[in-house]
Amino acid sequence: MASLFPAHSSLQNILITFTTIIFLASSSSSATPETNQRRPFNKIYAFGDSFTDTGNTESLTGPNGFVHVSNPPYGTTFFHHPTNRYSDGRLVIDFVAQSLSLPFLPPYRNSKANKTHGVNFAVAGSTAINHEFFVRNNLSLDITPESIDTQMIWFNKYLESQGCRDSEPGSDQCREAFDDALFWVGEIGVNDYAYTLGSTVSGDTIRKLAIYGFTEFLQTLLKKGAKYVVVESLPTTGCLPLAMTLAPSDDRDDIGCVKSVNNQTSAHNLVLQSKLSELRQQFPQAVIVYADYWNAYRTVMENPAKYGMKERFKACCGTGGDPYNFDVFNTCGSPSVTACSDPHEYINWDGVHLTEAMYKVVADMFVDGNLSNPPFKTLLERRLRKP
Ligand SMILES: *[C@@H]1O[C@H](CO)[C@@H](O)[C@H](O)[C@H]1NC(C)=O
Ligand SMILES: *[C@@H]1O[C@H](CO)[C@@H](O)[C@H](O)[C@H]1NC(C)=O
Ligand SMILES: *[C@@H]1O[C@H](CO)[C@@H](O)[C@H](O)[C@H]1NC(C)=O
Ligand SMILES: *[C@@H]1O[C@H](CO)[C@@H](O)[C@H](O)[C@H]1NC(C)=O
Repeated sequence: MASLFPAHSSLQNILITFTTIIFLASSSSSATPETNQRRPFNKIYAFGDSFTDTGNTESLTGPNGFVHVSNPPYGTTFFHHPTNRYSDGRLVIDFVAQSLSLPFLPPYRNSKANKTHGVNFAVAGSTAINHEFFVRNNLSLDITPESIDTQMIWFNKYLESQGCRDSEPGSDQCREAFDDALFWVGEIGVNDYAYTLGSTVSGDTIRKLAIYGFTEFLQTLLKKGAKYVVVESLPTTGCLPLAMTLAPSDDRDDIGCVKSVNNQTSAHNLVLQSKLSELRQQFPQAVIVYADYWNAYRTVMENPAKYGMKERFKACCGTGGDPYNFDVFNTCGSPSVTACSDPHEYINWDGVHLTEAMYKVVADMFVDGNLSNPPFKTLLERRLRKP
């Protein structure tokens, strides 16, 4: 593998500069991110799927229907060009990095990026269950072969490149890699259910296997030495235009979303929370935060105007017009598909992924609001008490 620390790519320079400017503009002190001694974390490691991926998709064909993430108008609102993020701008993980005065996380696959302040291992299309399971059940379609296991393999390679080996967990290199790091484990599991839609594999089977694989993953991170871990729940995927388009029109819940799908993600989240309780007992030295994506999304659906939103169900970038503006065979980024002119008034960007505006609302609820348990503030306080 090429050196992890070659000169910045120009994109990286621009991004880091931009972050610095934003930080300066929004801070009363004159410290830059590089010199700010009060910055609680020196780095973030992120994991997950397309909701968290900041560019690992590049050069892949990507999941069916979303092969166009490298084309405009992806990125139109913030970066002003596509960055292989599945949105018009920043994702939750980008807002988290900014709130911690850290630069945007480079994707693991960008070997040229400066990874001093963290790495993003999240990759679109990935699953909590090992890819082999989908192959065995003839459900692999054309979809990316990455699972959360792949992300662990990448993380291990990264650690080795830093001189941190499993055989010497107490080494300076391992302490350097873990002690001041925030682990942001983005939502993963939505794809597991999506890939098995219409198959003979039941939702219960997926839930059991996905939670099992995901818990193993978290346990491995914690055993290696992760101390500050945020785990996002599954969102209310029954509110996505994709789900609304596919489900019968009488399958609806009290907020107008697909009842069976929201029930499935809710059931998944209940089991996930009980697993997190077990992990907290098993690893008392770690802070494990549950970031409640399900209720964050639901809160905005219940009162969109409070968050400056008007369109709850309609994709900003898509085709077909009302009510969902979504056609799975002609998705955002295809040559003939255009975006709305006011994405900040939309929850949904492309039928599956959310707008920058929505990601900002969700990030604020996790970081400053009351949808993290224990509150994110508690994690920061624990961190700041350590040398
Ligand atoms: C990477 O970034 C860090 C912190 O911003 C900086 O100190 C270091 O010099 C950079 N490395 C390279 C090779 O540019
Ligand atoms: C998968 O497809 C192969 C070839 O078409 C078939 O032999 C096999 O039984 C299928 N497996 C399952 C689990 O459906
Ligand atoms: C979901 O549906 C199942 C039955 O299909 C039911 O037992 C369960 O209580 C429901 N869960 C929620 C959260 O509505
Ligand atoms: C969470 O915060 C929101 C607004 O910030 C408030 O309306 C809501 O009542 C709070 N919920 C709880 C459980 O404290």
